[in-house]
Amino acid sequence: MCGIVGYIGGQQAYPILIDGLKKLEYRGYDSAGVALLDNGELHMVKSVGRLCELEDKIGIGCPYGMVGIGHTRWATHGRPSDTNAHPHSDCTNHFVVIHNGIIENYQALREWLTSLGHSFRSETDTEVLAHLVEHYYRGDLKSAIRQVMEQVHGSYALVVMSRHEADRLVCARKDSPLVIGLGEGENFIASDIPALLKYTRQTYILDDGELAEVTKNDVKIENGNGASVEKPIFNVEWDAVSAEKDGFDHFMLKEIHEQPKAIRDTLRSRLNDTGVVLDEIKLTHDQVKSLRKVVMVACGTAYHAGLVGKYVFEKMLRLPVEVDVASEFRYRDPLLGEDTLVVVISQSGETADTLAALRLAKEKGSPVVAVTNVVGSSVSREADQIIYTWAGPEIAVASTKAYTTQLVVLYLLALHLGNLTGVVSLSEAASLVEELKLLPSHVESILKKEHELLEFARFISRWEDTFFIGRGLDYAVALEGSLKLKEISYIHAEAYAAGELKHGTLALITDNIPVLALATQPALHEKMWSNIKEVKARDAYVMGIAMAGDKGTHKEVDAIFEIPATIPLLAPILTVIPLQLIAYHASVLRGCDVDKPRNLAKSVTVE
Ligand code: M6R
Repeated sequence: MCGIVGYIGGQQAYPILIDGLKKLEYRGYDSAGVALLDNGELHMVKSVGRLCELEDKIGIGCPYGMVGIGHTRWATHGRPSDTNAHPHSDCTNHFVVIHNGIIENYQALREWLTSLGHSFRSETDTEVLAHLVEHYYRGDLKSAIRQVMEQVHGSYALVVMSRHEADRLVCARKDSPLVIGLGEGENFIASDIPALLKYTRQTYILDDGELAEVTKNDVKIENGNGASVEKPIFNVEWDAVSAEKDGFDHFMLKEIHEQPKAIRDTLRSRLNDTGVVLDEIKLTHDQVKSLRKVVMVACGTAYHAGLVGKYVFEKMLRLPVEVDVASEFRYRDPLLGEDTLVVVISQSGETADTLAALRLAKEKGSPVVAVTNVVGSSVSREADQIIYTWAGPEIAVASTKAYTTQLVVLYLLALHLGNLTGVVSLSEAASLVEELKLLPSHVESILKKEHELLEFARFISRWEDTFFIGRGLDYAVALEGSLKLKEISYIHAEAYAAGELKHGTLALITDNIPVLALATQPALHEKMWSNIKEVKARDAYVMGIAMAGDKGTHKEVDAIFEIPATIPLLAPILTVIPLQLIAYHASVLRGCDVDKPRNLAKSVTVE
C-alpha cells in the first residue's frame, strides 16, 4: 500500500513525480507529498487528501529541482494528515525519506532515538527511518542506509534523498515492491511499472534485501551482503495506453470491457484442438499422481477465484481441495508437504499475506504454483512455477478482469493436471476446450446487454442492504458479486449459500429488499427455485441471473438477466460479468469514487 516515485535527471522533477503518483494513486490516496532538491535547497510539500489536493496546495508555484521523490499514502501508522503524509525528514532536514511498508520495531527505535535527542513530528513508523539515517550518516548515504536496514524489522520499499549527496537517490526494498526505470541521462524509481511507462520500458526489478544507488547516468545495485549485483534489464511489454482510461469514465468500466481480450490473451497459445498446452507447469505425471491434496491460498477476489477453483479441481482431479484466506493460513499451522500442491493466486503478486503463505508452503516442501498477473512481481519470482493471467494492468481497486482470467487459468491448470492423471478423458478435455474458446465472444455478448442492467442497478442503489444467493459454483460467484458491490458502492451485501438462508439470515429479508439469485447450475435448479420462493414469500424483489433459455428460473423471479448458455462448470466466468456491471453502475449512481473506494488500496503489501 502506498505508492512511491523518484526522479533524477536533466528535467524538472515535479511534473514527472506528479504524473507517476497519478499512476500509483490506486495504491493509496489518503494523503500525498513531494520533496525536491534545487541547488542544495529542500522544497517539500505535503497534503492530506487526494493528489489533486496536493496539486491545488502547490498551485502554480511548483517546486524546482531535477531530483525529487514523491509519495501517495494509505495510512497504517497515524491517521491521514499533512504531518503524517510522506516524505519525512530528520531533525536537520538533510535526509528525506519515502516508504511503503511497515517498520514493526518503530516504537522501540523511536524511544531510543528520542533518548538520543531526536525530535519527531509525525505519528508514523516511517519517520524513524529519516532519523536513523541522520544518526548513522558519516559522509556516505549508502552505508548509512545499509546500517538502517540492519536495524529495522518489517517491510519496506524506501527511497532516501539527501542534501549532502544531491546527485543521487538511494533506494532499498524488503517485502515491498520497487522498480527502477532506466532512461537516457535520467533514471526513475517507482513502486510499480505504470508510473514508468510514459518514460521507459527498461527496468530493473529490485529483489529483497537489495539496495540501489541511482544517479542520472548510472544505477548501482548491491545485494544484502553489500556485493554488487548485475541484474538483467526487464523489458516491460505493456504499453502506456493500456494503463490509461482510453475514453471510459473509469478504469473499472474499461477493465470490465477488456475482459473478452484478457480471456482471449490468457487462453491464447495454451489450447490446441484436443487439450491444454501448459508449458509453464513442469510437474511430472509421477509428481501429480503422488499428490494427496491441493490447497489454494489468496485474498479478496483472488480468494473467491480459489473457491471456484475448488469445484473445478475436485471435479477434474478427484483430490480434496482446501481454499484458505491467506491472512489466516499460516496461523493455523497448516498441514503441508511434498504431497500437497499449493496454488497461490494474486493479481498484483505483491499481497503480503499471499506472499507469506507462498513462503511457508515452500518451507514445508510443497510444490507451489502461482497464478499472477504481474510479471516480475514478488510472487512470480518466488513461486516454483508460474502461470500468468495475461489481463494487462489492472488499475481500478475493484478487481474484475483479474478474476475472470484467474478462473481461466484455474480451468487450464485443472484440465492439464486432470489429463496427466487420466481423470479427465481426452473427449471430455476436447469438449471443455471448445467451450473455453467460446468464452470471449460470450462475454462480448453480455457486455452488449449492459443497458439491461441499468434499471436494476438504479433500484439497488437506493438500498443499504442486498443479498446474493446461489448454490454450488453460483455461491462462489455470489461471494464475488457481493464483494464488488460492497467495496465500490458501500451498500451492505450479504452472499449466502441459498440453502443456508433459512438458518438465520432469512430474518433480514424485508419488503422489496433486492436479492440477486444466481441460478446457472441445472443440477441445482429445483433446490434453487425453492430458495427463491422462500425469499419471495417474504416479499423480496428477486433479480435472477440464469442461462439463456432457462424458463424455469424465469418463472420464479421478478426480473432476469440471461447469460449465454455454456457448460455449467464454466458459468462463473459469465455470471460474474453482470454482477460487476451492477456494482459499477450502482456505485456511479450513488456518486461514489468507483476507482478509488474509501479506505481501500489496490495492493495490500502490509499484513
Ligand atoms: O493482488 P491480489 O490479487 O493479491 O489482491 C487481493 C485482494 O486485495 C483484491 O482482490 C481485493 O479484494 C480487490 N479489491 C477486490 O476487488
